[in-house]
Amino acid sequence: MAADTPVNALSKAEAEAELARLAEEIATHDIAYHQQDAPLVSDGEYDALRRRNEEIEARFPELKRSDSPSERVGAAATNAFGKVEHVVPMLSLGNAFDDGDVLDFDARIRRFLNLDADAELVFTSEPKIDGLSASLRYEKGILVQGATRGDGRVGEDITANLKTLPDIPQQLPDGVPDIVEVRGEVYMSHADFAALNERQEAEGGKIFANPRNAAAGSLRQLDPEMTKQRPLKFFAYAWGDMSAMPADTQSGMMDCFREWGFSVNPAFVTAHDTAGLLAHWAEIENRRAALDYDIDGMVYKVDRLDYQSRLGFVSRAPRWAIAHKFPAEQATTTLNDIDIQVGRTGALTPVAKLAPITVGGVVVSNATLHNADEIARKDVRIGDRVIIQRAGDVIPQVVRVLTEERKPDSKPFDFPDTCPACGAMAAREIRDDGEADAVTRCSAGFTCPAQARERLKHFVSRAALDIEGLGQKQIDDYWALELIRTPQDIFTLQARFENDPPEIWQYTSGSKEKIGTLKDSARKLFAAIESRKTADLHRYIFALGIRHIGETSARLLARHYLSLTAMMQAAQAMAAGDEGARSEIEALDGVGKALVDALIGFFAVAENCAAIMALIEAGVTPTPPEEIATDTPVAGKTIVFTGTLEKMTRAEAKARAEALGAKVVGSVSAKTDILVAGPGAGSKLTKATELGVEVLTEEQWIELVQA
Ligand code: IVH
Repeated sequence: MAADTPVNALSKAEAEAELARLAEEIATHDIAYHQQDAPLVSDGEYDALRRRNEEIEARFPELKRSDSPSERVGAAATNAFGKVEHVVPMLSLGNAFDDGDVLDFDARIRRFLNLDADAELVFTSEPKIDGLSASLRYEKGILVQGATRGDGRVGEDITANLKTLPDIPQQLPDGVPDIVEVRGEVYMSHADFAALNERQEAEGGKIFANPRNAAAGSLRQLDPEMTKQRPLKFFAYAWGDMSAMPADTQSGMMDCFREWGFSVNPAFVTAHDTAGLLAHWAEIENRRAALDYDIDGMVYKVDRLDYQSRLGFVSRAPRWAIAHKFPAEQATTTLNDIDIQVGRTGALTPVAKLAPITVGGVVVSNATLHNADEIARKDVRIGDRVIIQRAGDVIPQVVRVLTEERKPDSKPFDFPDTCPACGAMAAREIRDDGEADAVTRCSAGFTCPAQARERLKHFVSRAALDIEGLGQKQIDDYWALELIRTPQDIFTLQARFENDPPEIWQYTSGSKEKIGTLKDSARKLFAAIESRKTADLHRYIFALGIRHIGETSARLLARHYLSLTAMMQAAQAMAAGDEGARSEIEALDGVGKALVDALIGFFAVAENCAAIMALIEAGVTPTPPEEIATDTPVAGKTIVFTGTLEKMTRAEAKARAEALGAKVVGSVSAKTDILVAGPGAGSKLTKATELGVEVLTEEQWIELVQA
């Protein structure tokens, strides 16, 4: 076969070999172009290679490689940037979808801070920019580091790229604190986005789906010169590590940022009450279409910084800020088909296959239909004209069917009663209350290939193991090639394949000695996997995909059990009727009965226990959490609050104690270290006295934690 054999004359085997050759060749050109600034071929020749690759993939979609050039822009990026650990994590925001949610936000804050309904509580309000957040670190006024948000704790070092943005000062005026971290959003204007896409089209480059993607692609260029040519902008709205605070309000901080040379959104205002916030929201929503950049809502923040620090955070979002979203954008299209996807728990989810349509700047071709009831309720049928909507990153939804446009011969959708992936029976569970559950579930469990594959995808997802080079796409590929079928398979890849690599991990072109040997990219993957054997314990707990155990409860369990085996043994003890083990874990704040039942249920399945043992066998040793704070008088102590607290609300007291490394539980036992008892304390105080637990008044407690 020659490199110029027409695509439609290629046999499947030839196509596979040709895709391998093209992947290598294009990668070589990418490196020459992007990293060495020394292209080996003309743009036209390079484009022809990419086109040929795409044509072959179009003809043989099943042969598409995990390292396909069609999936990459420029040279590989993720491992090209260094990692930056954020001194202060970069958080996300909770959402408000209507006025009621905003009133609740205000009420929650007043309750937490013990403020009367008429006490002054000033907020700031500004647009929520649909871009990418970045953190800029200045030391003695000099920009020394710029990073992406990453997973909030660790981001990527893109200093050189951020330095090319005209909105980002490289130096701050004299007199600023020694350490300053300014955070904000990198974005691209509509006009710049349109011009960029035109240029890309003319040059045969990548066409971006929306300004946000264009900004992301531009910022993550390996070559800062490329970033420099992209029209990126920056709005400052927050900060991270600061050696001193130059203001005591959010609005004061924004004034400083402006004086220091940053852009702050011109629509930034303060409001004295929720009515002011809602009025500002309506005003900006009205002007939204006329703005030259994408916004998807407004962000409200408590103005006083002392209030902000008292309010603190719940899991990954501050209590003192919220994003008030704009309503979703809608469009009308045709529903061509209904696909049934099988999730990791066996849930059959119907997905609407749509005639592609642009909604809010993004091309949409799928929408979720949730479950059988939803399809019946909306009477969604194949061939219908439907109104769909999309809001932010949420999966598009079918709002309603235009029944007036329906063809007379259309038939209601028949929801399958077998699993499309494995053929096993699929049914709706009957709940405790006798009603059928909304979800139709495949009954096969471990033997259903779709469930096993989706569980693997969850295992490697970002909040779970987050292995560089092993994403959702690779799981699909390696599953198909039977390289990975269980979590432990991931950790034995190197041992199994290092000396005898499968074709996808072999060099297929280049020098003679190299052909057939292990590719560097595979070596890198193995190294990445190796390094994740000691990933944080909470990631492993979350990765198991146990019902009711999300990121936050995984952290709680990690702190409590300190190892996978301890957790497994406790679950088994609880299953065998050990009430002590059960009450100990249920006493943890944030752990409920449903979670404990799910934990017990998970480890009652022999395959799950075997999977844990196999992981350990494969060399997995998760890193137990450090105490959040160890140098405080209450670190590691178990505290119970009872009676009325007068200086702060229960919620604030609890948050404060936890931030200092204490465990706050609801009931007194022999394991309780301190009982903080306010007026009106009753049975808990009696029990603590009986057990000899240290009892403090609220004042004594405050004195202790302020020490
Ligand atoms: S404040 C601790 N303000 O929205 C609070 N975020 O959904 C930090 N965003 O990660 C965020 N515009 O990338 C804030 N005016 C604004 C924003 C904004 C956009 C992004 C930011 C954040 C995400 C949270």
